Amino acid sequence: MGLLSFQPLLSGDFRARGIFFPPSEPSFHFLCDSPSNSVYIGKTRISSLPYFWNPKKLANPHIAIVGISGSGKSYLVKTLLTRASIVWNTNAIILDWSGEYAPWVAQAGGKIIDFSAGESLNLLDAPSDVSSRTTQIMGALEILTDISHFSSQKRLSEQALERAYGKNKRKIPTMQDVLDALKSAKRTGNSKKLNEDIDSCIYRFEKLCQKGKNCFFGNSTIHINELISSGLVCIDLHSLPSEQTRSLACLTILQFILEIMRLQEAQRDELKLLVVLDEAWKVAQDEKSIAVQIVREGRKYGFSLIVASQNPTDISKTILSNAGTIFVLRLLLQEYKDYVKGSLGYSEEIAQEISNFTTGSAAIHIIPREKPSSHPTFIIPKIDGEEPLAVLKIRGDSLKFEFEKEDLKRKLLSFGLDDAQTAEIVQKFAASQNTLSAEELVLLLEKYGFSRSRIISLLRELGAGEESLISLFSSLQKSRTRANLGKPATLVIEND
Ligand SMILES: Nc1ncnc2c1ncn2[C@@H]1O[C@H](COP(=O)(O)OP(=O)(O)O)[C@@H](O)[C@H]1O
Ligand SMILES: [Mg+2]
Repeated sequence: MGLLSFQPLLSGDFRARGIFFPPSEPSFHFLCDSPSNSVYIGKTRISSLPYFWNPKKLANPHIAIVGISGSGKSYLVKTLLTRASIVWNTNAIILDWSGEYAPWVAQAGGKIIDFSAGESLNLLDAPSDVSSRTTQIMGALEILTDISHFSSQKRLSEQALERAYGKNKRKIPTMQDVLDALKSAKRTGNSKKLNEDIDSCIYRFEKLCQKGKNCFFGNSTIHINELISSGLVCIDLHSLPSEQTRSLACLTILQFILEIMRLQEAQRDELKLLVVLDEAWKVAQDEKSIAVQIVREGRKYGFSLIVASQNPTDISKTILSNAGTIFVLRLLLQEYKDYVKGSLGYSEEIAQEISNFTTGSAAIHIIPREKPSSHPTFIIPKIDGEEPLAVLKIRGDSLKFEFEKEDLKRKLLSFGLDDAQTAEIVQKFAASQNTLSAEELVLLLEKYGFSRSRIISLLRELGAGEESLISLFSSLQKSRTRANLGKPATLVIEND
């Protein structure tokens, strides 16, 4: 072997790949901290040191979390929120896209703002500065619609917003005032094109803001300046009718948070508020989004953004490359793994380990505040988190079971479901206010390949009586016949 062949063995690259030297972790001094001043996450893989997350040691308090559905993103968020509240009395606002957090927040004694319960958000509210508010509303419109391609409609919308603000200086206008301003600009003397553009603006605002519903048309019942210091707050967006309206609510709330943040005194080392964006892809992805601005400015005010997503490419490059902490949980798609590895630059060893992750495993990538770390990415085999007890309900015509979550998970595992299947079922509960219909549960078990008799014996074990089983399977049979889906189910209930 010539000298040239030895060269790679001596290079830093080989060392990083840990052929002769095990890949190292950040120092004891960085990882360990006082529990009264930091949030415990779990034990590191190599040195088994407890890792305590301390934003004072990091470039900023922002966090990005990526991982497939069921990898443990929400569990990690809940752990961070619970412990930050205990350690620093930190407040939290969760922008809850799918209503996943609401039951947990209710159980933890937090506050839930539910759009289906008549809450409304006036986009024109809180005008600390009317012209910047107008710019922000136009910004949201540009992110969520194609208005940027229509300069005349943009100008007309902007003018209508300005006119609405100018109408009555003592009263905060609403979306209705904007529509009125547009309608009054429509005249017979206008060119045909101008009147068509005005109509398009009216249509845009009516559609985006759901005219006929109260969510964006009434006066605000949601007061963000109070919510930023109200402990744990969940803004439940799942009842809003579309992805666009949920994004609009998210962007508006983030804009209000940014405005209020800029009025605060600089805090620097205190963590005052955690803002959670989970799966809000349009909001986290767009470089023009206020989420990016909060990441740029939040640190000095003690405001932290936590962005979680199944798809790392849905998180803007600025957020992904600037967040002080990135948690990489289980990833499956090669494209996503390559993207994250490329962005964070960790070794092949760590990439391999990520491929073998199970629920709760994490690679943590940190940007220290002081000098750069020579080992910025390290592994925690299992996040040592906590969640308050959750009660899961299974409902059917004459069926009614309630289980503590961990207990149901144990029962499903002992019945023969694997980790991924159990996580999927638990996920379905989480996405529907912790309640699943018995029919849906049967369909999931059938999808996993369990026979009818095995499913019946599980349901019996969970406590179902014979009559309720007959009624369950007969209603399944009816809905199948209705939907013309394959063979009708048999009504015979055999004993194993
Ligand atoms: N570190 C962990 N330790 C124990 N259970 C976990 C852990 N992380 C996740 N889980 C459980 O796995 C399931 C899926 O986690 P979840 O946080 O909802 O995933 P995601 O938000 O990524 O879809 C939940 O039942 C959760 O309680
Ligand atoms: Mg989740």
